[in-house]
Amino acid sequence: MDQKNITQGIESSLFIQKHSALIRIWHWTTFLVLSASLITVLINSTILNPRDNIGLVQNQLKGKGVTVSEEQAFAVSHEYEDKMWNVHKLLGFGLAFLLLSRVLIELLQPDEEKIRTRIKNAMGRFKLNDENKAKYRHFLNVKRLYLLFYLILLLMALTGLGLAFGRELGFNRQLHNTLKTIHSVLQYFMYAFVLIHLVGVFFAENSKDRGIVSGMINGNYSIK
Ligand code: HEM
Ligand code: HEM
Repeated sequence: MDQKNITQGIESSLFIQKHSALIRIWHWTTFLVLSASLITVLINSTILNPRDNIGLVQNQLKGKGVTVSEEQAFAVSHEYEDKMWNVHKLLGFGLAFLLLSRVLIELLQPDEEKIRTRIKNAMGRFKLNDENKAKYRHFLNVKRLYLLFYLILLLMALTGLGLAFGRELGFNRQLHNTLKTIHSVLQYFMYAFVLIHLVGVFFAENSKDRGIVSGMINGNYSIK
């Protein structure tokens, strides 16, 4: 494909849009911190699962001539899980901070780069009912999915902060358990977003939106 065709392909995609340096740094930092957070959850529900490690603690101590009950062994294996939850908590504070920064970035961005303006403009074009209607519908759905992600992240951050500071805030056991349940159910929405996003970006890059990923790295400022 010659240079002209590549440029034309890029110009015809709605997704080849400018991304400020701030949003790019925000995006890749969020990617790293959220991935690390997901890994802590994964490790705690597999390798460090306290119930699965009861036998291991008992056997190790037995080898040293000490016999402990399941309850005693659980107290030890549970501590390792807690250490990892502390890492999760710190990463969670990072995510809460990143969410706050995303709101500030939205306020500071030039008008044409705000997600709000992009949705508003696309709505206007969608209503024109021209031959690009399907393209605009897809664009709007993708942007709405990002808004949904921000909402899920907000709920995760609020419930997570509630779990982290519940004692200081005087939350009772029942409220703590409710927050835990909500936080834990929300994780599946997060996995769904990450999966849909990665598959979507992969297909977009391999079809009509070629250059979408490099745009999140170089910002697309060279394209008129
Ligand atoms: C957004 C900021 C977040 C904060 C502040 C946060 C904080 C916390 C805290 C304090 C706990 C309790 C740990 C303990 O039992 O000692 C927790 C548990 C947990 N978090 Fe998060 N978290 C956040 C995001 C996430 C994300 C993105 C996921 C996964 C998608 C996640 C999944 C979980 C799970 C599965 C648990 C265990 C819940 C249970 O024991 O049933 N968290 N989180
Ligand atoms: C934990 C993983 C990830 C999360 C949570 C995430 C989140 C997001 C969010 C919220 C946006 C919208 C930004 C905005 O305009 O407000 C976005 C856009 C984007 N992300 Fe990700 N991302 C992740 C991983 C990735 C990866 C691995 C890639 C590339 C391989 C990628 C490529 C992109 C691209 C190209 C866009 C712009 C697409 C568009 O204009 O609609 N993301 N991402």
